[in-house]
Amino acid sequence: MFKLLKYAKKYIVPAILSPVLMVGEVVFELMIPLVMADIITLIQQEGGMTDDSMNKMLRLGVRMLIYALCSLFCGSMAARAASVAGMGFGAKLREVLMNKIQTFSFSNIDRFSTASLITRLTTDVNTVQNTFLMMIRMLFRAPVMFVAALAFTIKMSPEVSSAFLVSLPLITVILVVFAPIALKRFKKMLEMFDGFNASIQENLTNVRVVKSFVREDYEKDKFKKANDNLMNAALNAEKLMILGQPALMIIMFGTILAILYIAAKAISAETLLLGDFTAIYTYIMQILMNFLMIIMLIAQFFMSQASAKRILEVIKEVPDISDENATETVVRDGSIEFKNVTFKYSGAANPIIKNANVKINSGEMVGIIGATGSAKSSLVQLIARLYDTTDGEVLVGGVNVKDYKIHALREEVSMVLQKNVLFSGTIAENLRWGNKNATDEELVEACKIADAHDFVSSFPDGYNTDLGQGGVNVSGGQKQRLCIARAILKKPKILILDDSTSAVDTFTDSKIRTGLRSCIPETTKIIIAQRISSVEDCDKIIILDNGEINDVGNHEELISRNEIYKDIYDSQQKGSDDFDLQGGAL
Ligand SMILES: Nc1ncnc2c1ncn2[C@@H]1O[C@H](COP(=O)(O)OP(=O)(O)OP(=O)(O)O)[C@@H](O)[C@H]1O
Ligand SMILES: [Mg+2]
Repeated sequence: MFKLLKYAKKYIVPAILSPVLMVGEVVFELMIPLVMADIITLIQQEGGMTDDSMNKMLRLGVRMLIYALCSLFCGSMAARAASVAGMGFGAKLREVLMNKIQTFSFSNIDRFSTASLITRLTTDVNTVQNTFLMMIRMLFRAPVMFVAALAFTIKMSPEVSSAFLVSLPLITVILVVFAPIALKRFKKMLEMFDGFNASIQENLTNVRVVKSFVREDYEKDKFKKANDNLMNAALNAEKLMILGQPALMIIMFGTILAILYIAAKAISAETLLLGDFTAIYTYIMQILMNFLMIIMLIAQFFMSQASAKRILEVIKEVPDISDENATETVVRDGSIEFKNVTFKYSGAANPIIKNANVKINSGEMVGIIGATGSAKSSLVQLIARLYDTTDGEVLVGGVNVKDYKIHALREEVSMVLQKNVLFSGTIAENLRWGNKNATDEELVEACKIADAHDFVSSFPDGYNTDLGQGGVNVSGGQKQRLCIARAILKKPKILILDDSTSAVDTFTDSKIRTGLRSCIPETTKIIIAQRISSVEDCDKIIILDNGEINDVGNHEELISRNEIYKDIYDSQQKGSDDFDLQGGAL
């Protein structure tokens, strides 16, 4: 928890101001019972009301009012300062966490799971923020109030104070017994929160799949289980409070009873003034209340340790892919070279890319073809450094990708991922992810290349059509074309399309390739495809076979010498007689 406090630095002024003002509040609050005692003593001593005693009383009344107003002013200002500091601290923590998560590579995110990251960003930050808020409000107030009230009581009547000798240690013992158990149960509850969030997140993001497989009942059961687990864990933690609270109450009221008994005897024996007793009674309440407050503060502090630890885990996580020592900020051209590249996913036993060597010149159009699972996607992800090679190196523009600032590299390597997504918002907003300053003309130009302009214009709202969450308002093929347009808008030096035209017909596919070739001739274009028709007009075609580069050549060369290529070609020829007319017509 203390380690997180450095993120509250910006709010140090209100965080300090609040306790200072709080001391003012406490001092004035403690003065009020003293005036009250004077008033009662005055009434007792004077017997009847004379003008003189009325004047005295009025003066005392006004003094009491002033104390009360001062206390109110200090108290409200202190509460305001505490809120500013507390909320600010929470917001800063969320910002730090979010910024950190943005630096995570794919494998970092896998390690935590998205659901757990969400719990850490919300529930855990809330717990820590509340503790911080409670700390600034109570850290000074409760002990000052407690000590001062105790001192006043002891001074006015040492006899009465003796009752605390029993009750305060008793409360402490209860705390020491309960706190570690509570902490354990609280940790368990947070883990259940992770599971709960995972359940709703998976269900809500994939609601269409759930419905199409009529798995609602299964999902409901899964949710119920996660929800019940969370409830039970919370109840388990709560049970302690339910047990602990009456125990504390018994001690509190027992103490009050004992004090009333001692005070009654003292007043009869005339060793204690009735007026003083009214003040003492108020102080007793303050002592007990503030002692409880201190205990709660300590308990809350321990509880939030679990959350603080989970937040720190995220903050301390080292991103797998970092560009700290990289210096290159300019990608010279779109040439790519794989030099003895071997790649293994972390945790996997065997490499899935084995000793790959290939050179691609800037501006070339290169096809990659191979059976499913032959590591096509894995190979191109190394170019944008979404993963790092295990062995060997990938050069872009003649420089190792690890030597580039990641931002600079990814600005120039635009990828349409195989599992691509659009976001909620209009078509234009989605396209501008590629280039936020793109003009309307540039949007149209990119959409024309990706053969998306016609269908976008056919919508009543055109480029301002709202896509709905995850781009649900467009068809699969339309979505792919918008993703391509978005990637083109970046005007990259390298454009990678990973199976990005799988949902469009061969004719449209060919139109897109014509557009790419004529409109962005300087950009290196890499096209991963299942269909030979999508790659046959490429300058070079790379054949991947089980993670190894089997051959590189153009269509004619490969058809005459490569068995794998010929097999794929023959199998695809059979089903499409009009293939040459449409797909191959460039
Ligand atoms: N994130 C990952 N972690 C571990 N293994 C992975 C991961 N992604 C892919 N793999 C494995 O790597 C191998 C190659 O996968 P890859 O996605 O590169 O194939 P692909 O050629 O693109 O296939 P497809 O044509 O179906 O898209 C597969 O055996 C797959 O199981
Ligand atoms: Mg793939």
